[in-house]
Amino acid sequence: MTELNKKRIIVTAALPYANGSIHVGHLVEYIQTDIFVKFLKLTEEKAMYCCADDTHGTPIQISAEKEGILPEELIGRYHKEHLRDFKRFLIDFDSYYSTNSKENKYFSDLIFKRLKKKNLLYKKEVELAYCKKCDKFLPDRYIKGKCPNCGAEDQYGDVCEKCNSTHKTTDLKDPYCTICGKTPVRKISEHYFFKLSEFQDKLSKWFEQNKNLQPEIINYLKNWLKEGLQDWDISRDGPYFGFKIPDEENLYYYVWLDAPIGYISSFTNTLKGDTKKAEKEWNDSRVIHFIGKDIIYFHFLFWPAMLMGADFTLPENIVVHGFLTVNKEKMSKSRGTFFTAEEFANKYNPEYLRYYYGKVLSKKLSDVDLDFKDFKDSINNELVGNLGNFCYRTLSFTNKFFDSEIKDIEKDPKIITEIEDKIEKIKRHYLDVNYNQASKEILAISDIGNQYFQKNQPWKLAKEDKEKARKVVALCINIVKNLSILMQPILPEFSKKVQQQLGLKDLKWKDLNFSYKNKKIGKAEILIEKFEEIIEETFPLDLKLAKIEKVNDHPDADKLYVLDIDVGRKKQMVSSIKDYYKPKDLEGKHIVVVDNLKPAKFRGVISQAMLLALDDKDCTLLFVDGKAGDPVTFGNLKNNKEQITFDQFTKLKMSIKDNKVAYNQETLKANKKEITVKAKDGTKIH
Ligand code: 2FM
Ligand code: ZN
Repeated sequence: MTELNKKRIIVTAALPYANGSIHVGHLVEYIQTDIFVKFLKLTEEKAMYCCADDTHGTPIQISAEKEGILPEELIGRYHKEHLRDFKRFLIDFDSYYSTNSKENKYFSDLIFKRLKKKNLLYKKEVELAYCKKCDKFLPDRYIKGKCPNCGAEDQYGDVCEKCNSTHKTTDLKDPYCTICGKTPVRKISEHYFFKLSEFQDKLSKWFEQNKNLQPEIINYLKNWLKEGLQDWDISRDGPYFGFKIPDEENLYYYVWLDAPIGYISSFTNTLKGDTKKAEKEWNDSRVIHFIGKDIIYFHFLFWPAMLMGADFTLPENIVVHGFLTVNKEKMSKSRGTFFTAEEFANKYNPEYLRYYYGKVLSKKLSDVDLDFKDFKDSINNELVGNLGNFCYRTLSFTNKFFDSEIKDIEKDPKIITEIEDKIEKIKRHYLDVNYNQASKEILAISDIGNQYFQKNQPWKLAKEDKEKARKVVALCINIVKNLSILMQPILPEFSKKVQQQLGLKDLKWKDLNFSYKNKKIGKAEILIEKFEEIIEETFPLDLKLAKIEKVNDHPDADKLYVLDIDVGRKKQMVSSIKDYYKPKDLEGKHIVVVDNLKPAKFRGVISQAMLLALDDKDCTLLFVDGKAGDPVTFGNLKNNKEQITFDQFTKLKMSIKDNKVAYNQETLKANKKEITVKAKDGTKIH
């Protein structure tokens, strides 16, 4: 359990990669950490929530290349997007920084130099897979081939999904580059290795001393230590998006070296970039990391060894959580169970998710399930039906029966001690990151309040003894106030509303008491709405922007083209536009295509998509500026992703109105911008 001692606590969550959107799986951790920090702040500890975008490495470099932009532009865009999404989920960082910062460069170099000076680094030649066409060394995910162990096809360069054996990229049989498809060659390069093997004893001691470790983690660590620790390759060859290693021609720090250092530089950001001061203060602080179970190895072995080697303070605890499943299965786009943070927040109140994660999260490493039925029931029965209802009922009752005024409190000793008892437990559960237990106790307090209210029937009592009834309700008002404090780490917005209605603000843990009296409260207002299922209207087609990469003649048909297109992935499309367009009018352009038609053969050539064109004399296509794979939608209608037949397609009625493509009342948009095309009203689209 985390102790409270008023020393600064730097709390971190793992740094999300800057080439993808935050989704509900990520939010498990950011919310888990946020609840912890909010709780510490509530108890007036000096806690700071530090995080950043993890910006370096091959995947980010390749994402940027695919979009034809610089990595800096890509990570800049995701930085804004991540901040926006976290804010909607009421996650408050003291610093949300970037690993592509001067502070991070400073600390990466500093740590590297110290390790080098202490003889903890050495250089060694490695043989790697290299793609000549892409001019890149190919890491695990960028090379595929046959598993050297079982022969299974199409396996990545690190592990075989069929037989689970691990291998090196250079061991794959019949390898190919997943970016361009060419066969890679082997190339020798000299890399830096960190002597992790020298930390066997030190790490083992550190684990033994650390009383906070979750039991499941101890098992992992014991096994790893038993197998013996391998030295770690911390460099990568250029071109690589990252920090160049000082005095090296073409070597960069591996992203996993500078990523955790991002924790220190994010903290430095709170000190206006003063690196000297930051190093000192980091070493005088307590540090707690929150991570997912997929990155245990990096955080329990590499990272503490680096910190030890470079004379930095080690974390006092690393809290590990499991993965998110939705309805007991891996999140999946096709099952409709994959939500980005933005999509989720557009559909539901973000506090619902905070509530639900709070309800299910514990110190255990087991996976966290977002079960939609349970989610909905929990929101309606517990959050709205129990907690929300008790608070609202008490407040509105006070408005109505006592002209909003409370005086003395009915000091029912049984109720008060029972609640005080629970408050102590709740505190321990928060400190133990067993939010599930904390939530349970909080709801139990709300139950006690509800029952007390019900049993005393203040609406009847008010007729016989108004002052007695007022005292009874005043006790309930105090319970409401206390609930607003207890719940604040999980439901900050809800809490704020309750306190506002009581004429209070920013209450702290020390304000948990039964002494709120002789006050006039504000007007009660609904605190939280019931969960309503949103029925979304859909459009039958999955329309997208396709980039036309190459136009080929059909081998067996004079009027047909076979187009190589990119709709986010490569496809081929047969189309009868040869009489209207020359290849040079098409190549490199983006047009609207249907991406969910059942593939069909045209004169022996398979077509995996279909373009939209006007039914006019020029067979006008919908040319749009944008990028391959961008969704194209009618207003706010959601595109259907299920496959449909050509017959279903022909029944759809789309036509031109005011130079726009219309369907029912909606007009066609690419990336929320209306598509315009010159044509007569009523022209059909096919
Ligand atoms: O696994 C990930 O998503 C990494 N970006 C986490 C990095 S955490 C820290 F070490 F930077
Ligand atoms: Zn290649």
